[in-house]
Amino acid sequence: MPSDDNSPMVTDFLVIGSGLAGLSFALEAARHGRVTVLTKRRPEVANTAWAQGGIAAVWDEEDSLEAHVADTIEAGANLAGEELVRDILREGPEAVERLIEWGVRFTREGEPGTDEEGEEGEEHGPLAAHEQADYHLTREGGHSTRRILHAGDMTGAEIQRALLAAVDQHPRITLLDHHIAIDLVTKRKVLRHLAKRRLGLYGPEVEKRYGPGGPEGWMPNTEDRCYGAYGLDTTSGQVHRFLAGVTLLATGGAGKLYRYTSNPDVATGDGMAMAYRAGAVLENMEFVQFHPTCLYDASAKSFLVSEAVRGEGGILRLPDGTPFMDAVHPMGSLAPRDIVAREIDAQIKRRGLEHVLLDVSDKDDEFVRARFPGIHKTLMKYGHDMTAGPIPVVPAAHYFCGGVQVDTSGRTLIEGLLAAGEVTCTGLHGANRLASNSLLEACVTARRCARVAPDLLAAARLEGQPDVPKWDSGEARDSDELVVINHTWDEIRRLMWDYVGIVRTDRRLERALSRIDLIREEIRTYYWDSTISADLIELRNLVTVAEVVIRSALGRRESRGLHYNLDCPETDDANWRRNTLLRREW
Ligand code: SIN
Repeated sequence: MPSDDNSPMVTDFLVIGSGLAGLSFALEAARHGRVTVLTKRRPEVANTAWAQGGIAAVWDEEDSLEAHVADTIEAGANLAGEELVRDILREGPEAVERLIEWGVRFTREGEPGTDEEGEEGEEHGPLAAHEQADYHLTREGGHSTRRILHAGDMTGAEIQRALLAAVDQHPRITLLDHHIAIDLVTKRKVLRHLAKRRLGLYGPEVEKRYGPGGPEGWMPNTEDRCYGAYGLDTTSGQVHRFLAGVTLLATGGAGKLYRYTSNPDVATGDGMAMAYRAGAVLENMEFVQFHPTCLYDASAKSFLVSEAVRGEGGILRLPDGTPFMDAVHPMGSLAPRDIVAREIDAQIKRRGLEHVLLDVSDKDDEFVRARFPGIHKTLMKYGHDMTAGPIPVVPAAHYFCGGVQVDTSGRTLIEGLLAAGEVTCTGLHGANRLASNSLLEACVTARRCARVAPDLLAAARLEGQPDVPKWDSGEARDSDELVVINHTWDEIRRLMWDYVGIVRTDRRLERALSRIDLIREEIRTYYWDSTISADLIELRNLVTVAEVVIRSALGRRESRGLHYNLDCPETDDANWRRNTLLRREW
């Protein structure tokens, strides 16, 4: 039975999530105080580690910031503001240099796989970060030029390795694995608890009677403040209070909301759901990106075939070998992702296909093997040789362009609560993310969060340590019904795939919403009656995010980027060139 410990765990900076955003913030923030990182499985299990393609940044002299800005806005279907995009992308090269300083080894020119002739690469010693021209740049959909730094075809795994090694050696960073955050601790939550204790009233009744500040003097009638989070140690079953001056959400996305996804099992929208429950705004949640090319093979779970394969010349074909993207977009198979995924979906539905084909077999075999060693090896495991012939692919949920609304320094509406990475919406991606801009955004915004964090910490210190109640498990009983959780989880994922996928209609969205409303109520009851567990926490988060995605999709009365609704198929710049904002009603 989970129980609360007696004393809270106090730190300066609490980081929830151990991907690129969380770890790079931790390394920067540790210069100003103690950092505690919570991660819900092993620390290397993060979306970052699964990133294949790379990190986009203006690195080559032939490239320019303006070209990167233009590609980002165009891929994003003209939703992103130019100034904001420029502001974030400008810091890309500097953020990459920082990664190199932390030990990330990007592929250099001359190394295997960088030359189609398949020449052997020379050995390199450590390079100074400014020796920019030496890195090999690849290309992906929507980019007008080669501007993506990569580490073979396992860029994310290399970043994760280097950052974890740096964190491991840092004396001021404590990393707690197998700790899943349950909910944020906010001033409002503390007030509700007080109200219950002193007045015998539940929070909403107090707020109705006294307003959001409670009885006079209880709480200033201003925006809320975050004090940290409740977290479950899934090994011991104990719930702890983690109190911090500054809390950073870096929990990644919510690909597991969909039946087919390129994401690891941890992508359950935890940060989005926690922030929403705490009163933060979720922005642009209708824009869910489907990656066009995941392996179609019943025995392979979630295997992505990087867009870099198309960047190096791979062509999308119908099963009879006909290429089909050239008729759709001037960039052909390298068109922006929303366009490619939608066209594959349309071809599959129109022709009753199971999949389409991705063909890189006309490239030199040695080059393909050296450039894509991880992909080639995994495909071979499933019996597909990409050097010998085309491989079967289908789209799958890949990335959330929406998330917790933040400014360009990662500040949310809640004082002391920052967020960075896929959990957020800075606005950079607009209605469709440009390939490999996500690692860049995570890195830049985490650095910016670390710049504002010391001032937030100082403000929190002035306020003093709050009296945060222990976790109250009430009448909860151990649940012996894991089957309920598994069943509900499957139901949500199937429903989202069928009704809230690549192509939407009003009727499907409405049907999805009424079903999700019922499921949410079922989970709510189950949640409060059952002993807390990681499965239950994730399920509750998934249903929260599902609801917000559906409501956001219903709200946008046009089609743009990743949101395509047959009942309003046109883009309506006059009325809808704006972001969707959703905040929980109290
Ligand atoms: C890929 O390698 O295709 C994924 C890169 C990305 O999602 O940006």
